[in-house]
Amino acid sequence: MPRPRVNGLRTLELGLPGPFRKRLTDLVVHGHKRATAGLLAEYDVDREEVERVGERLVLVGNDGESLALVEVTRVDVVPFGQVSWEFADAEDEGFADVDDWRASHRWFWERHTVGPVREHTGDPNWSLTSETDVVCVWFRVVHGFETLAIHAGQEPDPTTGAVVPPIYATSTYAQDGIGGLRAGYEYSRTANPTRTALEECLAALEGGSRGLAFASGMAAEDTLLRTVLSPGDHVVIPDDAYGGTYRLVGNVGERWGMSWTPAHVSDPESVRSALRPETKVVWVETPTNPLLGVADIATLAGLAHDAGALLVVDNTFATPYLQQPLSLGADVVVHSTTKYCGGHSDVVGGALVVSDTGLGDELAYHQNAIGAVAGPFDAWLVLRGLRTLGVRMDRHCDNAERVVALLQAHRRVTEVFYPGLHGHRGHEVAAKQMRRFGGMVSFRVDGGEAAAVEVCNRARLFTLGESLGGVESLIEHPGRMTHASAAGSPLEVPADLVRLSVGIESVDDLLSDLGQALSG
Ligand SMILES: Cc1ncc(COP(=O)(O)O)c(C=O)c1O
Repeated sequence: MPRPRVNGLRTLELGLPGPFRKRLTDLVVHGHKRATAGLLAEYDVDREEVERVGERLVLVGNDGESLALVEVTRVDVVPFGQVSWEFADAEDEGFADVDDWRASHRWFWERHTVGPVREHTGDPNWSLTSETDVVCVWFRVVHGFETLAIHAGQEPDPTTGAVVPPIYATSTYAQDGIGGLRAGYEYSRTANPTRTALEECLAALEGGSRGLAFASGMAAEDTLLRTVLSPGDHVVIPDDAYGGTYRLVGNVGERWGMSWTPAHVSDPESVRSALRPETKVVWVETPTNPLLGVADIATLAGLAHDAGALLVVDNTFATPYLQQPLSLGADVVVHSTTKYCGGHSDVVGGALVVSDTGLGDELAYHQNAIGAVAGPFDAWLVLRGLRTLGVRMDRHCDNAERVVALLQAHRRVTEVFYPGLHGHRGHEVAAKQMRRFGGMVSFRVDGGEAAAVEVCNRARLFTLGESLGGVESLIEHPGRMTHASAAGSPLEVPADLVRLSVGIESVDDLLSDLGQALSG
């Protein structure tokens, strides 16, 4: 008998009323243990009805009320006698071992489901045996971005109920007897609860299985490269990569036997021809800095994987609100959380997020071994920033669109770079893989370098400064500031270029400041 549907989606019944049902509801809907994951075992009553990986289902209570939208992440159909401890343990209901799990489920199912199964199969002698197929469904609750940003990893503190995760300013943790760790915490380089909250939130926002927080974006990049590369390996990096990435790969990595080739990552052919048999990483930033070039993440993931390499995407400019590289096939997402994730220009931090749990474990091993972790106060600041990332990004985009319109109409502006413009070279790809086009805008000024410098100097509300992604608007001259070191190289930026990090101030004030800065 096909199960009921809600809004066209098949349903997954959570369980019968009572304490068992309450536990499951706490677990998967209210995120008592995990904000985003859960799983459920059920009988395989009808093969046609087995859930499919990737399918979205409505989780319902036994009286049919919809509880949550979930996405199936894994399905194992195994005989009752062979259900794995991995599954039983992941149900997170305190089972001592798989026999304990089996006894508890046998009791429950014999009480509640054997009757209906007999009715359904028409076999009055049907009974649960160790050969009975059990469907082990792994799923995650599908929440909206803002819900995850505010709740993932951030359950109220179990001791006091504080709704904001506390700053655990501690280096070490009391043990209840040798090896008797409370909640797994031993030493704060290895793990700290404030950092864990941030790491879980980052993983949820990027749609990954594991997030790791570092002392800076560069610390995250260094840990990543030292985890996945060995001497002799080769990296393809963007020919307009962030200067610090260039310095790390080129100046630091080269001394340790890493070779590299720059490629124009908005052109897949350029990446293809840079690949070598020993290429282990294809590194991409999109959009890029300062000319806002766009790389096609899905296409490059295919190219990298065919070559046996990982695709790494620096998602600092777009943020997970605007673009989710893992869902497009990337293997690793890198962030300078100093920028939009933190969002208030008051913290330096970095992050890595991955889907593959094995790679996640290796990165966590190196995070601890190398030790460039985010401190608890910094982790707390970034987490506070993440809670408002969605609303801030929408306002950054709104304001940037108005600024772009002003610049396009201005007689002193000769060219505007913004991925949201139809004439922009990467617009189609950006429209395919981004929700909106971000808060970074660059433009060229009639009158050459002197005119561009003058615009920067005349701005009042736009603060003259490096960095980006904070609530306040910034203006800079890349040729003399962020990209000065590229002078004379193929990466040199136009001398008449001005870059804006459009903030979230009242947009009319931003427009009038730009108007007066351009009027000189
Ligand atoms: C795109 C990008 N990636 C990485 C970094 C490095 O991050 P951090 O300065 O936090 O070390 C930066 C810094 O500006 C950046 O802009």
